Amino acid sequence: MSHIAYVNGRYLPQGAAHIHIEDRGYQFADGVYEVICIWNGLPVDYAPHMVRLSRSLRELSVRTPATNGALTVIAKELVQRNRITKGTLYMQVNRGVAPRAHPFPKETVPPSVIMTVKHGAGPSEAIAEQGVKVITAPDQRWGRCDIKTVGLLPNVLAKQKATEAKAFEALLLTPDNTVTEASASNAWMVTKDQTLVTHPTTQAILGGVTRATVIKLAREAGYQIEERPFTLDEARAAKEVFLTGTTTFVMPVVLIDETPVANGAPGTVALELRRLYRTFIDSLRADTAWNV
Ligand code: PDD
Repeated sequence: MSHIAYVNGRYLPQGAAHIHIEDRGYQFADGVYEVICIWNGLPVDYAPHMVRLSRSLRELSVRTPATNGALTVIAKELVQRNRITKGTLYMQVNRGVAPRAHPFPKETVPPSVIMTVKHGAGPSEAIAEQGVKVITAPDQRWGRCDIKTVGLLPNVLAKQKATEAKAFEALLLTPDNTVTEASASNAWMVTKDQTLVTHPTTQAILGGVTRATVIKLAREAGYQIEERPFTLDEARAAKEVFLTGTTTFVMPVVLIDETPVANGAPGTVALELRRLYRTFIDSLRADTAWNV
């Protein structure tokens, strides 16, 4: 049975849901989005995702399409109508529909709102227990990677390169070999003295919601965290490397290109953080999970 999608005020079978050909999201990638994990029917880290959505809209001067309360009514409705227990909720807001011209359209043009859901959340436990291979690719993105826009072509190309190499992800590298993040997840390493290192939340990376939660869980577990850039050479020499993200949870990396990380097995820190993250999502509560 087709999923029900929400598009500009209407709930429709996904195959019948359409956007206008002059929607600026389609023509200019002039839109922003969020991907939210649904776990046991409840959203993971819903409030921080909604905060980031508002921030992305503000940074691009896109009008807020509706109150968070109204967006939440739609999101809940979609999760329930599609009976999503473990899945993802996708929200996209575009600047709206207008004859194609680069400048913003008139203030009166309403933003477009699209929401869809999918069954299936997180990678399988089997993959996480084995750890994954990543490749490296040049970071070819623009200067505002902190805004979650739908302009994802460089990410798509890097992920495709990873897929062709039978790798899970692509670590993105600046010309001086700094690892910014991965194509759809944040990158971390664990140093020999057990310090967790991840790129600071500058305009060079997306400030991951999962990254922030894992920082909190790791601090509570007693780990030291350094938010600083690190190089590919440091990652190759690290005790552990791992990724975090809404669709990744915490994923140990065991191979970078053809170089094993440490002994080539998932690290204990990544596996512990993965367990802690799992405990966190298992303990979501129906009376608070949708609060914004
Ligand atoms: N991507 N970095 C990039 C470039 C991302 O696209 C994502 C998430 C992340 C992790 O952020 P978060 O923890 O908030 O999911 C980091 C989503 C899942 C996507 O585009 O499908």
